Amino acid sequence: MTTLKLGIAGLGNVGVGLIERLVEQEKLRLGGVVEIAGISARNRSRKRPVPIDPYPWFDDPVALAKDDNVDVFVELIGGSDGPAKLAVEAALSLGKPVVTANKALIAEYGEQLAKLAEENSAPLLFEAAVAGGIPIVRAVRESLAGAEIKSVRGILNGTCNYLLTEMLNTGAPYADVLSDAQKLGYAEADPFLDVSGTDAAHKIAILATIAFGVPLDFSKISLSGVDTIQLKDLQFAKKLDHKIKLIAEGVNTENGVICRVEPVLLPMKSPLAQIDGPLNAVMVETVHAGPMTFTGPGAGAGPTASAVLGDISALIAGDNRKVLGHDVGSLNTTLCAPEDVS
Ligand code: HSE
Repeated sequence: MTTLKLGIAGLGNVGVGLIERLVEQEKLRLGGVVEIAGISARNRSRKRPVPIDPYPWFDDPVALAKDDNVDVFVELIGGSDGPAKLAVEAALSLGKPVVTANKALIAEYGEQLAKLAEENSAPLLFEAAVAGGIPIVRAVRESLAGAEIKSVRGILNGTCNYLLTEMLNTGAPYADVLSDAQKLGYAEADPFLDVSGTDAAHKIAILATIAFGVPLDFSKISLSGVDTIQLKDLQFAKKLDHKIKLIAEGVNTENGVICRVEPVLLPMKSPLAQIDGPLNAVMVETVHAGPMTFTGPGAGAGPTASAVLGDISALIAGDNRKVLGHDVGSLNTTLCAPEDVS
């Protein structure tokens, strides 16, 4: 049976959730044995719900990534620059597989990292970066590789959806609901990334590149968030039998692929209007396989750790799919900003 030794960098909600799952991995179906060869986080002494003393500690995530005992580097630090990127690059340069939940890193440096990964024959997997526990990356990149995709559209930020739902249902002010989303572990360390639409834009950029085979170019995503939505807007929409949702979409048009994130007024009975709380939903419209919808928890420790473990299981099974589903640098098509094609 295959044994994989992980180096886990980042012990926030997801990192701790991952350790909790690994402690009782006999309940899972990983296809092999997973050990923890080392851990790293900013603050060693912070109180955590799992003991971390059994595992070798590294102050520096780059040293952890390079450590000879580490077979797979798991990056849960977050942030597109700084230690996360340095440590991922260090692991890939040594030919070590990387599993990351870091959508900002993949959205902003995905092409560069995919090239580094492929040059070193190192898998780079990021199921947890998009839609938390919903296995949408693998579904679009692999299971739907034989279906021409017309659009991907959905709710990709659990914090914003929780905010919009709770404000409308309870009348609670924006700031209070956002603070609850932080306490529940849905929001990013900097919740501006959620409410500004940036987090959803990172995710739709990643989905668009694997759905349409366009190079990742985060600068081409048009975005606006929920930070200007007030309770009276939600109540007014309800009077009109509508709901306001933050919708992320990528559409393959005759003039190129365009992606946008914006609050949208949806008829109350439409499928995406039914998605409430911290859930995500992704509707994929294909030419030959019809439309399909994936729904599930889009944020939180359990769902995101589950997606990380799915990638680890894929590594045990020998996953060697192209990182972005296509050869980096091989594409002529482009991702266009909406204003380029209108
Ligand atoms: N902050 C993100 C969200 C976490 O609320 O959806 C999952 O990526």
